Amino acid sequence: MIEKDKVNRILVVDDSADTRRIIQRNLTEKGFKVFTTADVNNAIQILNSISIDLVITDLKMPKVSGIDLIKHVRENNKDSEVIMITGYPSIESAVEAVKIGAQDYLTKPFTNEELFKAVKKAFDKLKFSRKIKSQDNLNFAEKYGIIGESNVMKKTLEETFKASQTSSTVLIYGESGTGKELIARAIHYNSLRASAPFVPINCSAIPESLLESELFGYVKGAFTGAYENREGFFQTADGGSIFLDEISETSFSMQVKLLRILEDKAVYRVGGKHSRKIDVRIITATNKQLLKLVEKERFREDLFYRLNVVSIDLPPLRERGDDILLLTHYFTLKYSKKLGKETPVFSEKALKVFQDYHWPGNVRELENVIHRIIVMNDDINIDVPDLPPLMRFTALRESGLDRSLAEVELEYIKNVLVSVNNNKSKAAKILGIDRKTLREKLKHIE
Ligand SMILES: Nc1ncnc2c1ncn2[C@@H]1O[C@H](COP(=O)(O)OP(=O)(O)OP(=O)(O)O)[C@@H](O)[C@H]1O
Ligand SMILES: [Mg+2]
Repeated sequence: MIEKDKVNRILVVDDSADTRRIIQRNLTEKGFKVFTTADVNNAIQILNSISIDLVITDLKMPKVSGIDLIKHVRENNKDSEVIMITGYPSIESAVEAVKIGAQDYLTKPFTNEELFKAVKKAFDKLKFSRKIKSQDNLNFAEKYGIIGESNVMKKTLEETFKASQTSSTVLIYGESGTGKELIARAIHYNSLRASAPFVPINCSAIPESLLESELFGYVKGAFTGAYENREGFFQTADGGSIFLDEISETSFSMQVKLLRILEDKAVYRVGGKHSRKIDVRIITATNKQLLKLVEKERFREDLFYRLNVVSIDLPPLRERGDDILLLTHYFTLKYSKKLGKETPVFSEKALKVFQDYHWPGNVRELENVIHRIIVMNDDINIDVPDLPPLMRFTALRESGLDRSLAEVELEYIKNVLVSVNNNKSKAAKILGIDRKTLREKLKHIE
């Protein structure tokens, strides 16, 4: 059946006003949102600005033909279906329309039933292909160990998958620890270059004076200590991909050299006179807004546009909703298995803290927190006091002004106990109460 939760959009393109009116009336009655136009160029404009599920187009129109529109849709709106209408039925035109991607065709005059049947068929097909696509996305993510089912991550994964199918330069933007390298690897290993090397380099970790020779190699005698010819990372990555992390940290002179490689597809070794052709896909990553650096003239504009052919935005963890829970589960299994420990269970409250925390270090921070909890705890139940102090503190701070004094007191007592390894005498001393009072208070939780 046609999905009820979403309004399905149909674009009708026909130079006959009567046909447009009849189709619009009939399909609007069936709950579709129907746009109409008499002209293919107009249709293309509509397709560029809103997402259309189905295009119903006439074949013979005065300026541009329906065949051209079908071709346009197939190339640019792969997620839309097409039904062709024709007043001059001929086997050839029908065959041609179907060959270039029309789902179906209707011959004028057609009955309402024929119209509904064709529309239903198109939407059934669309639903099926969209289901496959979302399954493909999940499979793709799973293959490369990327956990994420939130809408924002689905979008990122779709872009990542698309990028892997091309050889274009990719710029990945994301805060620290959001998984930029993981995404870069997925692009490489899912591409036709998978059997050639993936070479990751952190531009900020190599001193400026060494970066050039490390990246491009050098010839014997190029500088003191260059006793022999050496290949650089670019030569190693030939046929494969190079991943330049923290690209914003490169100097202007390095940026000029990278630009030249992108333009010439060739590298000069340091001290070398001849360039060598190389075929390397460049994937870069940054946690800074490069365009802002361009404005401040700290990053070359021409290089920015060369690197930013395909751009992928990795959302921060705090914006990924339930992915936090999925990742918590994933890392808990991973580290308990790795450390040969029983898989712990997080209390509801602890999971709530995980969901509310703002995760400045993103997925890497979550991974480290869980790793440490599993190393430090032998108890199978993990509760708020077992979490790192900063997270507990944030939880306290962020839990707002809706808690009773008793609740806040208990939470504080628990935190103090954790900080002194459950030594009640020490805890009582810090709290400024005697042990008996502490025992009384703890009765409420034990
Ligand atoms: N969606 C995810 N699913 C599973 N693991 C993830 C995911 N995202 C990141 N990780 C893991 O988190 C850690 C950090 O990821 P990665 O090194 O790719 O981040 P980054 O954005 O490159 O970080 P930095 O900005 O510090 O360079 C890695 O161990 C990675 O495997
Ligand atoms: Mg990284």
